[in-house]
Amino acid sequence: MLRMRHSRMADRTLLGHEKKSRGLERARVLCSPLLTIPILLIICNLSSTITVFAQYTPSYACDLDKYPKLKDFAFCDTSLDIQTRVKDLVKRMTLQEKAGSLVSVADSISRLGIPSYGWWSEALHGVSDTGPATWFNKTIIPGATSFPQVILTAASFNESLFYTIGKVVSTEARAMYNTGVAGLTFWSPNVNIFRDPRWGRGQETPGEDPLLASRYGVPFVRGLQEREDGDKEKLKVGACCKHYTAYDVDNWTSVDRFHFNAIVTKQDLEDTYNPPFKSCVLDGNVASVMCSYNQVNGVPTCGDRALLEGMVRGEWKLNGYISSDCDSLHVMFKDQRWAEYPEEVTADALNAGLDLNCGDSLKNFTANAVKRGLVKESVVDRAVTNNYVTLMRLGFFDGHPSKQFYGKLGKKDVCTPANQELAREAARQGIVLLKNGFGSLPLLPTSIKSLAVIGPNANATKAMIGNYAGVPCKYTTPLQGLSEIVKTVYEEGCDVRCNSTKRFENAKHVASSADAVVLVMGTDLTIEAEALDRTDIDLPGQQNLLVSEVAYAARGPVILVIMSGGGMDVTVAKCDPKVTSILWVGLPGQEGGGALADIIFGRHNPSGRLPMTWYPRSYVDMVPMTNNNMRPDPSTGQLGQTYRFYRGETVYEFGYGLSYSSYVHRVIKAPKFVTIPLHEGHPCRSTACNSIDAGDRVCSGLVFDVDLMVTNIGKMAGSHSVLIFSSPPTIFNAPQKQLVDFKKVWLEPWQRSVVSFSMDACKHLSIVDEFGARKVALGRYLLQVGDIKHYMNIQI
Ligand SMILES: *[C@@H]1O[C@H](CO)[C@@H](O)[C@H](O)[C@H]1NC(C)=O
Ligand SMILES: *[C@@H]1O[C@H](CO)[C@@H](O)[C@H](O)[C@H]1NC(C)=O
Ligand SMILES: *[C@@H]1O[C@H](CO)[C@@H](O)[C@H](O)[C@H]1NC(C)=O
Ligand SMILES: *[C@@H]1O[C@H](CO)[C@@H](O)[C@H](O)[C@H]1NC(C)=O
Ligand SMILES: *[C@@H]1O[C@H](CO)[C@@H](O)[C@H](O)[C@H]1NC(C)=O
Ligand SMILES: *[C@@H]1O[C@H](CO)[C@@H](O)[C@H](O)[C@H]1NC(C)=O
Repeated sequence: MLRMRHSRMADRTLLGHEKKSRGLERARVLCSPLLTIPILLIICNLSSTITVFAQYTPSYACDLDKYPKLKDFAFCDTSLDIQTRVKDLVKRMTLQEKAGSLVSVADSISRLGIPSYGWWSEALHGVSDTGPATWFNKTIIPGATSFPQVILTAASFNESLFYTIGKVVSTEARAMYNTGVAGLTFWSPNVNIFRDPRWGRGQETPGEDPLLASRYGVPFVRGLQEREDGDKEKLKVGACCKHYTAYDVDNWTSVDRFHFNAIVTKQDLEDTYNPPFKSCVLDGNVASVMCSYNQVNGVPTCGDRALLEGMVRGEWKLNGYISSDCDSLHVMFKDQRWAEYPEEVTADALNAGLDLNCGDSLKNFTANAVKRGLVKESVVDRAVTNNYVTLMRLGFFDGHPSKQFYGKLGKKDVCTPANQELAREAARQGIVLLKNGFGSLPLLPTSIKSLAVIGPNANATKAMIGNYAGVPCKYTTPLQGLSEIVKTVYEEGCDVRCNSTKRFENAKHVASSADAVVLVMGTDLTIEAEALDRTDIDLPGQQNLLVSEVAYAARGPVILVIMSGGGMDVTVAKCDPKVTSILWVGLPGQEGGGALADIIFGRHNPSGRLPMTWYPRSYVDMVPMTNNNMRPDPSTGQLGQTYRFYRGETVYEFGYGLSYSSYVHRVIKAPKFVTIPLHEGHPCRSTACNSIDAGDRVCSGLVFDVDLMVTNIGKMAGSHSVLIFSSPPTIFNAPQKQLVDFKKVWLEPWQRSVVSFSMDACKHLSIVDEFGARKVALGRYLLQVGDIKHYMNIQI
């Protein structure tokens, strides 16, 4: 979503100043004497009043207080159900008005009292001004709480945290809408699979595992959408799961996302790329799905009827709208040369199931596409209906927002101390301890008279919030966080690119005279970002050299902190005994420095676990980023991708993460055999089968419990994520190992607790065959939690 940035100013003025003159111009046109007098009055009034609302008052339709005549329009009647209201509205619209409501800056329809609506807002990890319909203003709302970038939050493996963040973000979002500086539809979360460590947008995602991505997406979406008054039909704000599907290359060597055609097997689509989207729709009831820029198997996703109408709306039954990525249709036309005429692209997208277009193609070309018979007007009506149903669920047609359930929210609800504390808590819960030689951490504040804080990200601000950020309430940099606890000396050493060693001497000097050293290295948006994939996975420039030289010069513990979205080959530091600890802090958000200090000084026991594999540097030479095939391929020597399939060496594996405590697991209950009762006449009763259909009716109620005893045998209380992996029988090229469930528990020292997993073999343990069908393999499964192994047979 980068292409449209240039038009942001235009969009803003459209929603702001410029609207005034537009509104007046329209009023003049509409007030021609040809119109009958009563309507004329309404129209003139409506048009001019909408202009009064132009700036810093929320945009909404059906202002019955000012225009009682709107009462005659059934779509403004809140006592009617939404379907009836939308039907009434669509019936009143001309074809061009319909076309104008299919785009991200939807036209106003003054004669119906409908103002322009900006669909494009973002709230990936806090309300963001990346989309033009939301902005910050020093006097109105100067900033919003900026949570850690999603990849770090995901590392917490804590579903209630995901939900709570979503809820806080939607409260701030709704407060901003009430204040007139935000929309109601937020195009977040990004639930694409972080397939390749080089991907610049991997930071936005919950990582490489489809189960974790689903378990992140669903509570985050629910936190954004669900209303505290329990009204299930209405939405607090609208979320959007993007970018459907198999989108994971932005700009790598000569390949970019606008031209990339992902070749994806049915099997990989079903068991890797699509599960988070399916969960978003089925379990999260998300209001929107966005199709991506790339093609999948030669068809642009926004023009793929099987993917949109077939899967999202047909099988999953989306209750909402399907949007395109920004300028996707123009990309289809211009970059992908999908059709000769833009009207054909428009028709293909609408016919495929697209409802809204970020950009203006649908506004420009829909009427002509209908006139040429390329698309039926009923298809256009479906799109218009899906969009307006969403806006009605958001209360956009229910009169002044201040009189609605969330009407009291305002500036006072944004950047509250509690919200900022949650940002710090989220970072604390996500930070991953990767190495801790001889218990070098936590540091004792009383024994550190001086702390050297070194490195390009040691005093990072913007680097901590990554992309799709807004303006944070404030920043607590690592240096500031640490300085609040002990006396610090700061030396940058080099900038993030680190192509000069000039200041290394200073850094070594500072390190040699301090009791301990914290080195904050890593990347920022100049290294990994939207439209910018990496070509290597090393620390940039001479950063490794700075780490070794400083570590060599230091006399106390050396704590290496990696601030990055993607994984890094930190083998040098991992193997260097002088580097006593390594922490990964992701992109930790506005309170990242405070959270880091909490961990380093033992105010919080780290519990984060890596949501993606950290590969050795040689990985990038072995795997072209453009290979979407997850599975190893002996014929090409491919080792497979992500922990589920990759057969090679790792630097740190998926799910890895240490604590200041130790936890032991013991299986107290788990079946050795699970028997599937097959009905009379089931083919597998007469012929040998290696699997049964997981969609089959036989495959329901195959539930069993796995109970574990988990004990904290350390000296410190802490949270512990219990990750349960399954290695299924080796048929259908199944994953060697896959996460099937997880839970996070809090344990005091020496406290033990039973952690129970209620498993459904059909759901949790199923795998996917070469044709994309879910199956339960028969045979031996290995269940693993930590270093505990349990073998189990599924039989008939
Ligand atoms: C912020 O809002 C105030 C009050 O409406 C307005 O006067 C000012 O021009 C706005 N600033 C910007 C930068 O838009
Ligand atoms: C749509 O029309 C507007 C106004 O004529 C034009 O500026 C814009 O470039 C058009 N967009 C596309 C995708 O053709
Ligand atoms: C650290 O960053 C903050 C915020 O940008 C800045 O105010 C401060 O001067 C910086 N500290 C040093 C020592 O450079
Ligand atoms: C080092 O990087 C800076 C930008 O960060 C660039 O201006 C400079 O030319 C680079 N120097 C070398 C020697 O590559
Ligand atoms: C790809 O990245 C380069 C810089 O590395 C940039 O110049 C170019 O515009 C990018 N292309 C796209 C399509 O994002
Ligand atoms: C999960 O996150 C929630 C919300 O921040 C928190 O209250 C809870 O303690 C966390 N759970 C664990 C086990 O740490």
